[in-house]
Amino acid sequence: MAKPITQFACSDCGMTYKKWTGRCDGCGAWNTIQEEVPLSQGPSKKSLGTMKGKRMALTDLATEETPPPRTLSGLSELDRVLGGGLVPASATLVGGDPGIGKSTLLLQAAAAFANAGHSVVYVSGEEATAQVRMRAQRLGLGDSAVRLASETNLRDVLTTLEAEKPDLCIIDSIQTMWVDTVDSAPGSVSQVRASSQELVSFAKRFGTSVILVGHVTKEGQIAGPRVVEHMVDTVLYFEGERGHQFRILRAVKNRFGPADEIGVFEMTGMGLAEVTNPSALFLSDRDSPAPGSVVFAGIEGTRPVLVEIQALVAPSQLSQPRRAVVGWDGSRLSMILAVLEARTGISFQGLDVYLNVAGGIRISEPAADLAVACALLSAREDASIPPETVVFGELSLSGALRPVAQAENRLKEAAKLGFTAAMAPKGCKTGDAGEMSLRLLPDLTTLVGEVFGAG
Ligand code: TYD
Ligand code: MG
Repeated sequence: MAKPITQFACSDCGMTYKKWTGRCDGCGAWNTIQEEVPLSQGPSKKSLGTMKGKRMALTDLATEETPPPRTLSGLSELDRVLGGGLVPASATLVGGDPGIGKSTLLLQAAAAFANAGHSVVYVSGEEATAQVRMRAQRLGLGDSAVRLASETNLRDVLTTLEAEKPDLCIIDSIQTMWVDTVDSAPGSVSQVRASSQELVSFAKRFGTSVILVGHVTKEGQIAGPRVVEHMVDTVLYFEGERGHQFRILRAVKNRFGPADEIGVFEMTGMGLAEVTNPSALFLSDRDSPAPGSVVFAGIEGTRPVLVEIQALVAPSQLSQPRRAVVGWDGSRLSMILAVLEARTGISFQGLDVYLNVAGGIRISEPAADLAVACALLSAREDASIPPETVVFGELSLSGALRPVAQAENRLKEAAKLGFTAAMAPKGCKTGDAGEMSLRLLPDLTTLVGEVFGAG
């Protein structure tokens, strides 16, 4: 018998190696190389030769296609993130930190789909059926027609699914599934890859929508090779700050709808509740003006969302002052501090800077630059921005303010929530701002001079 070939693979990007190394050449990650048994012996060295294949039928782009029919769960936040409901024969990956509420969300989704008259199978590889049943009963979902199993052997799972042919199947989680033809532990790169491949191909062959739950590594990526994200049609992340009850379901890839769409939920004693008006939720009480606090009018997916950005600036005891950020990008903060110092001469040297996005939401839009700059200046100068003002705009390295998209939607949302003024870059297409009093600024120097009376 031939000696089994061992190989090593990167758990982030899936690149394979003959020998172990500390750093992956493919993606540059450290300590991600693990020993693996290859999925097969790999592609054979032989070329395709002269044997002919089947001739493909080529079509054109003009042929009318009916869009895929979608099934609605009735959980409108979930349907929105999926791009307007679940697509048959699709594979969806839901990733998130342990304990964030993935199993709760999917159990509720399973019950909602079952109540809407679809056949649903929920396979848990992590919890016993009794545990899932207990949770369902506590959530008041005991009566729904979800079929339940606790199983990790993918051969048994697939045999059952092929017999049942459900409309929706939930696999919680992909890291617990194992394929008996692959000789490595569940959760390893080759097992996760093989299990996902089998399940995605099952979805395509039988028309079942498959939802896979995926764990997330310390670095915040779905554990297992990146190839899983490429294999599935939709990748959703379920995120939230520990200690906050708000949870955000974010589409990062969607072959059937817009990416970057978010759904907002609140974790309650009775499971996850939908939050249909998230803006009201990310704002704290804003009766009295507070230095360092600024409301940013952002856009998440297709929806405008108002969030409060808080900054604190304090004298530092450290030789290298602290820069702490929650809910925003740390290197973007450094950039804003550098631009402020270079273009307005306001220095943060010898000062600790803390920046926090309230409510546990994470912002990635560059349009938050101006709000962050205002929060920093306001904290630094101890001058508060009037509480009924929203701020948005992108900052360029020259200190100029760059207009951002969807200004009109941002202003409308702000007006809806009782804000009466806005600060934005000059050149924004504000459309009909209604009663809003607008202050359109060309650059940082004007902002510092006019708003903070310094510089
Ligand atoms: P869970 O869905 O098990 O998380 P995951 O599958 O992502 O690991 O969620 C577990 C957490 O949710 C747990 O810390 C308790 C909390 N929780 C509630 O607050 N209320 C509830 O009704 C339920 C079911 C869970
Ligand atoms: Mg779970």
